Amino acid sequence: MRVGILGSGLMGAKLGTIFARAGHEVVFSYARSVKKLEKLARDAGKNARAGTVREAAQDAEALLLAVHWLRVDDVLKQAGDVAGKVIVTCSLPMNAGNTDLVIAHRSSGAEALAEKAPNAEVVSAFNTVPSEVLFGVYRGRRKARRPSLVYCGDHARSKKVAATLIRDAGFEPVDAGPLRIARYTEPFALLVAQLAYEGNSGPELAYHFERYGN
Ligand SMILES: NC(=O)c1ccc[n+]([C@@H]2O[C@H](COP(=O)([O-])OP(=O)(O)OC[C@H]3O[C@@H](n4cnc5c(N)ncnc54)[C@H](OP(=O)(O)O)[C@@H]3O)[C@@H](O)[C@H]2O)c1
Repeated sequence: MRVGILGSGLMGAKLGTIFARAGHEVVFSYARSVKKLEKLARDAGKNARAGTVREAAQDAEALLLAVHWLRVDDVLKQAGDVAGKVIVTCSLPMNAGNTDLVIAHRSSGAEALAEKAPNAEVVSAFNTVPSEVLFGVYRGRRKARRPSLVYCGDHARSKKVAATLIRDAGFEPVDAGPLRIARYTEPFALLVAQLAYEGNSGPELAYHFERYGN
């Protein structure tokens, strides 16, 4: 697939590198320096290049949105027409200090994004893992017991795209249902962050869901 990375920080840089190494055609965009984007592309290998947000979005089959919530409008504006695009978002609706969700319970960042880009197909994924685990999971992707990764969305096509990217990153995709379920996955992401950064587990945290009973 052609994957546009909108936001090339901790999450975007790592996931974009993983997607490129897994064989996808990746364009890194949206950082404060073009040099950083070019270095990222060089390090990610022959399938990656640096570009503007507009270029990253133009021919992409999937877009990874990985910016702070306060930057979402700016990125969408730069992207231009995203009608028909699959947007996989890991962006959490956090306040400026990253202490609290600014949307919760009755809606979610993913649903607010779907309202901002009504002609795109939004899937919420990758926001319930600390960025530190991503390379490790990718390297261990042939393990029988892969860590789980929950995703949700309203369109079958975009969910299929997201599930492919989740698998390529080394996780077992767990379909949590429609996009409104992001109301519960986004607070879950904060629980993961609490355990990873403030508890004793450390950021290497990844989880595995098991089914019990029949
Ligand atoms: N990190 C995690 O473990 C994690 C886990 C779950 C969810 N998330 C969510 O994922 C999203 C991205 O998180 P992150 O940790 O990857 O954030 P980050 O490292 O801060 O990355 C944000 C990207 O946006 C770019 N950016 C910021 N301001 C900009 C500006 N004015 N102009 C151009 N580019 C600008 C940054 O550029 P520079 O590269 O130049 O700084 C960076 O590339 C957030 O919504 C976060 O809540 C993160």
